[in-house]
Amino acid sequence: MLSTQNEIRNKVNIENCRKDFPIFNVPDNENLVYFDNASTTQKPHKVIETITDFYCQNYSNIHRGLYPLSLNATEQYEHARINIQQFIHAKSNNEILFTKGTTEAINLLAFCLSDNHLKKGDEIIITILEHHSNIVPWQVIANKLGIKLVFIYTNSDGDIDLEKLSEYINNSTKLIAITHISNSIGTINPIEDVIQMAKRKNVLVLVDGAQSVGHMPIDVQKLNCDFFVFSGHKIYGPTGTGVLYIKEEHVEKLNPYQTGGNQIKTVTTHGTVYADSTAKFEPGTPNISGFLGLSAAIDYVNTIGFDAIMEHENDLTKTILKRLNTFPPILIAGNPKNRSGIISFNIPGIHPMDAGILLGQKNICVRTGVHCNEPLMTHLKLDGTIRLSIALYNNYNDIDLFIEKLAWVQDLLSRQK
Ligand code: ALA
Repeated sequence: MLSTQNEIRNKVNIENCRKDFPIFNVPDNENLVYFDNASTTQKPHKVIETITDFYCQNYSNIHRGLYPLSLNATEQYEHARINIQQFIHAKSNNEILFTKGTTEAINLLAFCLSDNHLKKGDEIIITILEHHSNIVPWQVIANKLGIKLVFIYTNSDGDIDLEKLSEYINNSTKLIAITHISNSIGTINPIEDVIQMAKRKNVLVLVDGAQSVGHMPIDVQKLNCDFFVFSGHKIYGPTGTGVLYIKEEHVEKLNPYQTGGNQIKTVTTHGTVYADSTAKFEPGTPNISGFLGLSAAIDYVNTIGFDAIMEHENDLTKTILKRLNTFPPILIAGNPKNRSGIISFNIPGIHPMDAGILLGQKNICVRTGVHCNEPLMTHLKLDGTIRLSIALYNNYNDIDLFIEKLAWVQDLLSRQK
């Protein structure tokens, strides 16, 4: 009985949640179809109010002042860390590092590992599905240290070859860096299998959760990954916020990659001893309001619940695929076994950028181009795609408007030929 009541409540929440996002209530945005959620998500009132309240009523620096305003700000900020810890089921709040976003988190980790853990002759495995932010930092340290970077490819459906991956793990392999969900074709990678494979050979695993964290529950302890990264702005939180989860056993071994105040035990004229905790990775005044906002975004997602979010987003995804598949000339990029609500496609003879500009004129927001996935596009022999990506506030009206305007674009551009 209780669970049925919860299901009904969650369904009502998800149907009403569009009202929680002020952007959809602006009169000019009445017919706004926002399908660019893999790029960034819209913000609910709760997040905006949390940030405004902090600046209007409670603002001060953290970790320094002993007056109530500062003590209160510190308490709120550290509460945000605990909230995020619980959200991804980390064991300790000392495993949660705050960064500017996924990109900074991966760069930070790459630098730290290159300083402490990696050496010439080692190998790092990544997949062809990675966003540039999970390729370039590893290329930089591979070039610097003489490390081999090994790519795992996908089949034409966009699924990675697990057997190949297992063959590629050898005694020199030190790290596998893999995206949870492809940001351009929506593949949900079998990261549980990858992590198990890696752990049998004592290899570290970084999971890029930028595209998964807002769409499914994450349990880093169950996954048993060593590192997990995500950006706050893709889960209804503010830009400039990101998280790097580091399994506690690695925290002590890694040195900071930025240095300054508020990260130290002692500084003398002879040298510095860093703090034992993750504080050593966070010098300087951080994005305080941003992390309070991210914590509010997580509260918001928790209120809706992932059961309702996943059910709603799966239904929308199935409907979009069905509608696109009956739209005759469309070519959907990839057909992964397990997919998310990120869908890339092309209309033969129409450049994705032309479609993107025209759709934009009709208030349809999609991303077009290579989506910071050039190696994947080359592998799939694509110049680019039109990409739509959904979030919890999308609805069936969005799909109808999108299909209607897509037909208009196709008709207009075909007539000009
Ligand atoms: N990483 C974001 C995207 O894929 C910006 O669109």
